[in-house]
Amino acid sequence: MSMINRRKWLKNSALAAGAVTFSNALTAGMSSNYNAQARHVNNIWEWEANLSKRPEVKARLLANENPYGPGPATQKAIMDSVKVGNRYGHEDAAKLIELLAEKEGVTTDHIMIAPGSSDLLEKVAISRFIEGGKIVSADPAYMSLIKTSQAMQADWSAIPLTKTYAHDLPKMEAAIDEKTKLVYICNPNNPTGTITPGKDLWKFCKTASEKTLIFVDEAYLEFMKPEDKMSMVGLINEGKNIMVSRTFSKVYGMAGLRVGYVVAQPETLKPLKKIWRSNMGLNITALKGAIASLGDEEFVQKSISKNTECREYVCAELDKLGFEYLPSQTSFVLFPIELEGKPFLEKMFSLGVGVRSFEVFGGTHCRVSIGTMPEMELFVETLKTVLV
Ligand SMILES: Cc1ncc(COP(=O)(O)O)c(C=O)c1O
Repeated sequence: MSMINRRKWLKNSALAAGAVTFSNALTAGMSSNYNAQARHVNNIWEWEANLSKRPEVKARLLANENPYGPGPATQKAIMDSVKVGNRYGHEDAAKLIELLAEKEGVTTDHIMIAPGSSDLLEKVAISRFIEGGKIVSADPAYMSLIKTSQAMQADWSAIPLTKTYAHDLPKMEAAIDEKTKLVYICNPNNPTGTITPGKDLWKFCKTASEKTLIFVDEAYLEFMKPEDKMSMVGLINEGKNIMVSRTFSKVYGMAGLRVGYVVAQPETLKPLKKIWRSNMGLNITALKGAIASLGDEEFVQKSISKNTECREYVCAELDKLGFEYLPSQTSFVLFPIELEGKPFLEKMFSLGVGVRSFEVFGGTHCRVSIGTMPEMELFVETLKTVLV
């Protein structure tokens, strides 16, 4: 049997056994707060409980970070900011909001900044679902906003992705009812890395936003192919009830510095701004870094082209090894594996490679973030040792 056929055969056998394996995984190691996620689980729970005990890694490919960042202009701004650490960042926050408004083509009252887009995903979930309701999203999806909504007692209507791994927009629209307070779209999606065509999404957002708030998470927008790249921000200028989130954590390489923002109708942001003075959560270092990074187009372009080069390398190697990866337009790649998540991660980490595993589409998948070329080479060599 060839390697690929054997892999397919094993995959089919694994699918048959999948229900048992997965339910074992669910009950074996998860803490109770994971139960809310039902079909969408990652397997690092033991280390999540005590991250400082996680093994040291040589190739850190587990959080979709930018291995090159922050860029040189940002680093300089960060270092200069040390001297003004005694001051609040009010002026810098105002400056950043002005720059973002200009970038997105809206007025400043359409912008809300926060320490990372996670902060805004959670705040939106809390304010929308404080009295319960229903959230509609794809499955699998990025779980942050969904998990917080569920913690607020919202019902989750999880609509499987289509065969091409796009959001199933007609089914999502049909799932909207009078209880629905938000539809969450992640484009490109995490953990799949796949996209929903911009034109389809634009049409969906236009009509569905007549019924409820459509939240579009564009954390990986910059990594999309130029011909596919299409932000939904333009619809906000048309007066539509859309909220778009963006982050400085990915293409700008500022994950640890924590800056994110949303663009939305001023009326939609009002309830949030009434509760949270989000600017106050941002430190002056992060603010000055974000301002500088907006002017460093060279670094952005370098990050994108290096990411593409390393992603193409990994995909070519996965092809050779017979792994059926999903088509990614992000800084990570997802592919099914035959080993269960926990032993797989333990082996990878013990050999110095940090990745994530997800139980999606009825089986275990590895999600590898795109790092530097030497990191990706180490990943491929380690994968061969562990899985082939
Ligand atoms: C789709 C998506 N949205 C939001 C975030 C959160 O990013 P941050 O809080 O760093 O802005 C992530 C992080 O990985 C993500 O993948």
